[in-house]
Amino acid sequence: MVSSVYLSRFRSLSLVLVVGVLNLQINNADAKVYQSLEEFTSDSSKGTRAYDFVLVGGGVGGSVLANRLSEDARKRVLLVEAGPDNEGVLNLTAPGLFTQIDASTFNWNYETIPQVGLGNRTIVYSRGKVLGGSSSVNAMIYTRGSKDDYDSWGKALLSSSGQNKRVWSWDALWPWMKKHERWRPPVGNRSILGQFDPKFHGYEGNVGVSLSWGGPSAFDLRALRAIEEDELELATGGGFGRGFNLELNDGNALGLCQPDSSSVLTTAKKELILTAGTIGTPHILLNSGIGHKPDLENIGVKQTVDLPEVGKGMSEHISVLLTWTRNDTAVSVDPAAALAQWQLDRTGPLAESVSAHHLVFGRFHNDWSGFKLYGDPSAGKNSAHFEVVLLEARWLYAPQISSTHLSLT
Ligand SMILES: Cc1cc2nc3c(=O)[nH]c(=O)nc-3n(C[C@H](O)[C@H](O)[C@H](O)COP(=O)(O)OP(=O)(O)OC[C@H]3O[C@@H](n4cnc5c(N)ncnc54)[C@H](O)[C@@H]3O)c2cc1C
Ligand SMILES: *[C@@H]1O[C@H](CO)[C@@H](O)[C@H](O)[C@H]1NC(C)=O
Ligand SMILES: *[C@@H]1O[C@H](CO)[C@@H](O)[C@H](O)[C@H]1NC(C)=O
Ligand SMILES: *[C@@H]1O[C@H](CO)[C@@H](O)[C@H](O)[C@H]1NC(C)=O
Ligand SMILES: *[C@@H]1O[C@H](CO)[C@@H](O)[C@H](O)[C@H]1NC(C)=O
Repeated sequence: MVSSVYLSRFRSLSLVLVVGVLNLQINNADAKVYQSLEEFTSDSSKGTRAYDFVLVGGGVGGSVLANRLSEDARKRVLLVEAGPDNEGVLNLTAPGLFTQIDASTFNWNYETIPQVGLGNRTIVYSRGKVLGGSSSVNAMIYTRGSKDDYDSWGKALLSSSGQNKRVWSWDALWPWMKKHERWRPPVGNRSILGQFDPKFHGYEGNVGVSLSWGGPSAFDLRALRAIEEDELELATGGGFGRGFNLELNDGNALGLCQPDSSSVLTTAKKELILTAGTIGTPHILLNSGIGHKPDLENIGVKQTVDLPEVGKGMSEHISVLLTWTRNDTAVSVDPAAALAQWQLDRTGPLAESVSAHHLVFGRFHNDWSGFKLYGDPSAGKNSAHFEVVLLEARWLYAPQISSTHLSLT
């Protein structure tokens, strides 16, 4: 099925922001990174193993929380990460090398069960397994959800918590979005006149955000014109990758275990916080018997807490890559020169993960037949159904060929 698409006026085109590598900063003067469980257990100088807070998962959520909790120097905070350290790993650090990241070391390498809507194909499902989590392996594109998204989460929480005050909403969270952001001009300091709105950004936080190194190219200008003229018609197909293979081990494990190694028991005096991500967190909960009884019994896990929703109701956007080549002069990039330039002053082709300077957030026609089948999957009338990433893939995939990609998610 193909349908043309009206672009939402609300957020028809926004410039892509680049979020800096997660700035993990444990403020506690005693902060230390242990590279292995052995190193952790054999360090006698760290004193008691009792921590006030133990966080499982050193990705985006866990690292930010650990940082905030450790601002109180009296609190002992332990952040446990299954993957290796990200420090000094070039492929994780230079944005333009993110496609080269060694998945067997830094990724959980998940794969879905056959997806009925996708011709029963299994789909590769990438999740970072390294300090920084998926932010260490992602494309570093900074986009907030829509206001409707935040407001709808607030409504859902309200109805499930029994509280009468809404604590989650766009308006309530706005000060925190600003607080965490540290906007800076792009590397290379190109002119960005008219390309961003200062009032929607924060300047004092610890997550670096900027516009791309590369200025508007001929491709970007064409995209802008196409939007202006509403000539961007997009072919969209149905089929959402719903359902997920929750990869359960046969564990009855409470506490933390690491395979092929001795285990160590740590205790949290105040809270044990799970920040292991969309897959990792329900995985640990289900292994601990927290979930839906019949599902757990099916795989021999004894239920400890009845919480039927654990691991269910996940929805995900799929990504479709449409590629074509064009006739203008190919720009070839010398990889060694690009690396030298990046190492010198953080500019050049490797300063960008993908050379996508624009995103389109669009909605289907109101008369789209899919609404009858699926309802409106968006959070509200001002929220997108899909995101189009307009990217020029000049040096990324084939340095000699100038091709253009349209990624639909
Ligand atoms: C390839 C890719 C590209 C992406 N591109 C973008 C982008 O451009 N812009 C954007 O905003 N978002 C992007 N994302 C999404 C973004 O990275 C995630 O939304 C975000 O990282 C989620 O944060 P989290 O803390 O929930 O989980 P994660 O950051 O994934 O962190 C979870 C951590 O928990 C660890 N863990 C899991 N299980 C255990 C366990 N049992 N014990 C110990 N540790 C465990 C994991 O190893 C991981 O480090 C991308 C994601 C991927 C995978
Ligand atoms: C970066 O990734 C490439 C491709 O996977 C690999 O050949 C190279 O060794 C990696 N570089 C480093 C420094 O690990
Ligand atoms: C996908 O698998 C389901 C269940 O096994 C089957 O009924 C269906 O015919 C399959 N579809 C395709 C396109 O192979
Ligand atoms: C960046 O450019 C602006 C405007 O041209 C200029 O005022 C500023 O000093 C420059 N900053 C750096 C670090 O070069
Ligand atoms: C693009 O190049 C091909 C092959 O050289 C040529 O046949 C075609 O006419 C060109 N198209 C345009 C629009 O210039």
